[in-house]
Amino acid sequence: MRPWPRGGVALGGDYNPEQWPREVWREDVRLMREAGVTFATVGVFSWSWLEPEPGRYEMGWLDDVLDLLHEGGIAVDLATGTASPPPWFSHKYPDSRPVRSDGTRLWHGSRQAYCPSSTVFTEHAVALASEMARRYHDHPALAMWHVSNEYACHNLPCWCEVCAAAFRTWLLDRYGDLDHLNDAWGTAFWSQRYTDWEQVIPPRVTPTFGNPTHQLDFWRFGSDTLLAQYVAERDVLHALSPGVPVTTNFMTNDHFRLLDYARWAPEVDVVSTDHYVVHQPAGPVTDPHHDPRAELSFSADLTRGLAGGRPWVLMEHSTSAVNWQPVNQAKAPGQMLRDSLAHVARGADTLGFFQWRASRAGAEKFHSGLVPHAGTDTKVFREVSRLGAVCARLQEVLGSHVEAPVALLWDYPSTRAATLQAVPSTAVDPGQVAHDLHAALRAAGVTCDVVPPGADLSSYRVVLVPTLYLCTDATAAAVAAAAEAGAQVLVTYFSGISDEHDHVRLGGYPGAFRDLLGVRVEEFFPLPVGAAVALDDGGTGTLWSELLEAVDAEVLARYADGPLTGVPALTRREVGAGAAWYCATRLDPEATARLVDAVCAAAGVSAPAGRPAHVEVVRRGDGERTWTFLLNHGEDAEVVLGGHDLVADRPGAGSWTLAAGAVAVVRGS
Ligand code: GAL
Repeated sequence: MRPWPRGGVALGGDYNPEQWPREVWREDVRLMREAGVTFATVGVFSWSWLEPEPGRYEMGWLDDVLDLLHEGGIAVDLATGTASPPPWFSHKYPDSRPVRSDGTRLWHGSRQAYCPSSTVFTEHAVALASEMARRYHDHPALAMWHVSNEYACHNLPCWCEVCAAAFRTWLLDRYGDLDHLNDAWGTAFWSQRYTDWEQVIPPRVTPTFGNPTHQLDFWRFGSDTLLAQYVAERDVLHALSPGVPVTTNFMTNDHFRLLDYARWAPEVDVVSTDHYVVHQPAGPVTDPHHDPRAELSFSADLTRGLAGGRPWVLMEHSTSAVNWQPVNQAKAPGQMLRDSLAHVARGADTLGFFQWRASRAGAEKFHSGLVPHAGTDTKVFREVSRLGAVCARLQEVLGSHVEAPVALLWDYPSTRAATLQAVPSTAVDPGQVAHDLHAALRAAGVTCDVVPPGADLSSYRVVLVPTLYLCTDATAAAVAAAAEAGAQVLVTYFSGISDEHDHVRLGGYPGAFRDLLGVRVEEFFPLPVGAAVALDDGGTGTLWSELLEAVDAEVLARYADGPLTGVPALTRREVGAGAAWYCATRLDPEATARLVDAVCAAAGVSAPAGRPAHVEVVRRGDGERTWTFLLNHGEDAEVVLGGHDLVADRPGAGSWTLAAGAVAVVRGS
């Protein structure tokens, strides 16, 4: 594989020279060098410039851009240009435009206006990718291929007839025949039995709740369809441009759940993602505990989990404000550097931004860039240049791995299934539960890998299973095996309820984990939004409770008021060399912290000593050396105690001070 820039942590971002006159390009390269930028992602939205008319390619301008970047020593992450088809394409092939659930066909004039199942789109995209690969495979600036951009961001689901037909083909492949489909979808309910494939349609608007398995399968189909589109482009790139890694940028932000990235990750040569700080996500319930910094850490830990622990690429984040939230908050001085290094701490070896120069025109003209509208005599450009210098100094951490004794299971299909209609409580969001546990670990200074259920769990001392509603037999067995082998396993409420078809597991909840946990739940008692129930250990539960019997488990806490007074809420069972804990309600943050501490303590997992609150600590290592990242998110200077490996590289240090907002990277061995 071709080398990715190795002069330090790679720094760069989306570069859209077609938005600027040629005179600016040379200046761009000069400023990139000045700022310490080492890579540029070029061509993401360039299709209408690369192929202004069907089959007529115009790439001379891109030759010049790539040559200029190469002369400046800037590596290129070259996009295939297929993120957004040009107007001529949508005009010529009107059926290729995506359709909303209400039947509205979307127009061009924005971006990504193509149907995920459109074969004519895929043919044209593959043709452009092939042309690009033939022309640039041996260009010395080319370091990586970037296929499309944020698949599914705007065009999934699509409700057109082409998707309906493709959905039937996908179902035929999955189930083989209608009998198996009828069984899987539970069509005995509400007279839904299908007797001809033509009757099978996408889960369109229905008089009342639609069939959940039908909806879940349509979601799976959407993810697989776009994945196939990616693979089609990737395969021509591998064939025509061998040795150059191929990626596409994921969106591991919490609010994006349209694709099953566990199925995508094995198909990319390098896992890359985009992350934007979201101040209040639009969820079923506004979460008073939402913390954008903790969400960033979760996203980074999830990206690393998808990458199998290997270093990953942060393809995009922002130097300051975005333009797509209701109020777009600018980053405070120092925040961009801290956010960037939080990603590096958690395994990123590349820091990309959207975008190099803030646009003058278009829908994103109020989005920050590395070069703001005000020019280079700005806070943003000075901070970018500072980051450039820091990235160069971090060369030695490249390739090292993040040390994480804890795994947290994150499953996109389960999350999707748990948040469909007609569930016991629409206020329950597995994402929120996962974030609760992750935030408690982060606050405690314990790092965790957020991994898909198929991941190898054998090296973890703690395994967290937050509200894994839909659970396959294989996952249930893997979790039980981890406990047997010595892990402390913590499962939370509304887990193990259904199988891969979203059929309820009978005999008492939480079906898939009942034996492991030694508990049996007869009935759910979800709590009204805003209501709380006291526990006899001083904690409080919200959102959820259940009529639970501790069949073969020690009771750690019971409800102290409400209809379930005296019923167990928290249990623990010794299992083989480990244990299985169960938490049947959403604990308040303090009680969550106590529980997470207890589980970690039982596993012998502890935070680095001497770490003050507000200082995030993450360690990377390469087997010989370690690098401890300390990020002070507080408003005060923090005294970090010496005398342990946190400050091993500081001879004689007793204690030292980390200024408010500052980041330190401490080498140890
Ligand atoms: C990303 C996208 C970029 C840009 C950015 C703005 O989702 O990939 O092209 O739109 O958001 O925040």
